[in-house]
Amino acid sequence: MAKPKIYVTRQIFDEAVERLRDATEMKYWDSEMPPPRDVLLKEVQDIDGLYCLLTEKIDAELFDAAPNLRVVSNMAVGFDNIDIAEATKRGIPVGNTPGVLTETTADFAFALLMAAGRRVSEGDRYTRAGKWKTWGPKVLLGQDIHGSTLGIIGFGRIGIEMAKRARGFGMNIAYYDIFRNEAAEKEFNATYCTDLKDMLGQADFVSVHVNLTPETRHLINSDTLGAMKSTAVLVNTSRGPVVDQTALYHALNDGTIAAAGLDVTEVEPISMDDPLLTLENVIVAPHIASGSVVTRTKMSLMAVDNLMAGLNGEPLPNTPNPEARDVRAKMG
Ligand code: GLV
Repeated sequence: MAKPKIYVTRQIFDEAVERLRDATEMKYWDSEMPPPRDVLLKEVQDIDGLYCLLTEKIDAELFDAAPNLRVVSNMAVGFDNIDIAEATKRGIPVGNTPGVLTETTADFAFALLMAAGRRVSEGDRYTRAGKWKTWGPKVLLGQDIHGSTLGIIGFGRIGIEMAKRARGFGMNIAYYDIFRNEAAEKEFNATYCTDLKDMLGQADFVSVHVNLTPETRHLINSDTLGAMKSTAVLVNTSRGPVVDQTALYHALNDGTIAAAGLDVTEVEPISMDDPLLTLENVIVAPHIASGSVVTRTKMSLMAVDNLMAGLNGEPLPNTPNPEARDVRAKMG
């Protein structure tokens, strides 16, 4: 029997490539940069399965270009790059990679929290610029982490791991989410806040862990930034557009808040002309929160499992649109 045809849109790990090569007729964009859109649209024309990354926009135009497509496997937990409703309508299951990156991402969010709060990157730049002339009582003072309050927006898997780390550092926890999680509240002695601005007013550090949806786009804006303490530190490892970056620039520049640690930006990569990059009190990392060797390897293999399940007509182990199978079954 002919092997299914697939396209892989980026250089991935050898173990994942070997599995895919064995089981499929694989076209491989073996590069560190994503394929240009016209190449992507051309390469998908005859494929059964697509193995893609969060940098690829998977929308009606792409589905139109790929009439045989039966499964899309995204090597990411987030799937805001994919038009899920459109995929479901066409009976195309989408795979994602939740779970394996939870702790690694929380580790990095906590690293940003500490680095922005205690001005680590700024201190390194200060040293390298030859500004370190003496020990000074007021040099590069930051915010204490122990004893402070962490406000967590989105108390899902990663938000809860953040709470675990914060408890280890002696922080108090407040959280805002549309769902209340009383078990986690008890475990981490966390306070549930039904009002975002109330929570922001109490928090010394705020960490964002929500999916990007129409409801969460610009959840952090000039109004919500204005509700934060002037000493507060904002951390975002979710998706860039959850934060209104222009409003954040103004808030950091005029002292509405003290600092920010970002792993994601509204446009990625951030433009080198972006005013945020002129500020000392912000750290901008290049979307690497899940970037440990072990975790990225696991993500790439999990994406293989999702892809293979879809190609074999089986339920995907991890999918945001399980109902796509029923749609496909009805399509015959
Ligand atoms: C990374 O941002 C992911 O969604 O996996």
